Amino acid sequence: MSTPVTTSDASNLNFTKASERIYNFSAGPAVIPLPVLERAQAEMLALPGVGMSVMEISHRSKKFEEIIGSATSGVSRLLGLTDDYHVLFLQGGASLQFSQIPMNFLTEDKTADYIVTGSWGKKAVKEAKREGTINIAFTAQEEGFKRVPKAEDLKLDANSVYCHFTTNETIEGVQFQTEPDAGDVPLVADMSSDIMSRPIDVKKYGMIYAGAQKNLGPSGVTLVIVRDDMLKLVKDNLHTMLDYRTHVENKSLYNTPNTWGIYILDLVCQWVEGKGGLNGIQQQNEAKAKMIYDVIDANDFYRGHADVDSRSRMTPTFRLGSEDLEKQFVKEADAEGMNGLKGHRSVGGIRASIYNAFPVEGVKALTDFMQHFAQRNG
Ligand SMILES: Cc1ncc(COP(=O)(O)O)c(C=O)c1O
Repeated sequence: MSTPVTTSDASNLNFTKASERIYNFSAGPAVIPLPVLERAQAEMLALPGVGMSVMEISHRSKKFEEIIGSATSGVSRLLGLTDDYHVLFLQGGASLQFSQIPMNFLTEDKTADYIVTGSWGKKAVKEAKREGTINIAFTAQEEGFKRVPKAEDLKLDANSVYCHFTTNETIEGVQFQTEPDAGDVPLVADMSSDIMSRPIDVKKYGMIYAGAQKNLGPSGVTLVIVRDDMLKLVKDNLHTMLDYRTHVENKSLYNTPNTWGIYILDLVCQWVEGKGGLNGIQQQNEAKAKMIYDVIDANDFYRGHADVDSRSRMTPTFRLGSEDLEKQFVKEADAEGMNGLKGHRSVGGIRASIYNAFPVEGVKALTDFMQHFAQRNG
């Protein structure tokens, strides 16, 4: 008879205590609410009533059905989805959606509008072009991706099957303040870096997608929300896994989903509800972002990247006088327990990702640091 494993045999693995957590400004995978991590920790070895970890149970078990059901209703409640929207938990990241969307919807007789306000929108365009004709309704590339379009900038095509845009361009820190007006054409939005950060006017969207690793949980699960009328447009003869109808018909259980990711996403939804839902979380997000922009605007030591009316509440980006000074800023901040402030390599500078779960105390620590740094180096 084999000896049952009753204690950890991983004595060579060290672990960090919660009290040693630092402020995590990284763009994704990003900070997860501490109560969610604690709950997951408490349930890691044995889910109540199950006696196994969520990572060890079948995705077809009753317990997992409960978890995915709870995650689905959490997403629906928070975003105010009506019955004609399907909530899917897929894999392949937001990046796979760049391909899957045109594969499903872009037919030979139609075009698709793309509004490009940053690096992620550009990547979406690259994949869509392989599938069919697209219309660039707006691009801010020549201007260095500093703003979203004004209504009069949009050159939409009335023959478009959908209009794609990126609600928050994570790298540039450029965010739509409200939905672009595409008339009767359904909006398809990459909300990877601001999903559930504020209420949205859901009926304007034919589809919403987001990699989970910023506002929803860990990487490896992609939230896809698709409206019924869009499913009627899906092309025939797609590979089974790439056809949205497969996942709708099988309630995201056609193949083995990321069970762990969905479990955490469910807990994150519960946490957001506890914060007063999207209205409550929006208030906190606006207050946090304002603290940073107030310091940027106080003098000319810091320069915000985005135009004021396109500024992101999730990923504020800014520059300092020189690259050396920026390096010094990141190094000193890191030494004070603020990690992940270096801007994306393509734009440089500083990026403070302050997603839903990022604590206001961390923003206060950063703004204090910014002020002292400016005094010392200005
Ligand atoms: C707005 C946006 N879209 C798409 C992606 C790509 O997501 P994934 O890594 O899940 O494919 C990212 C990742 O940072 C992002 O910020």
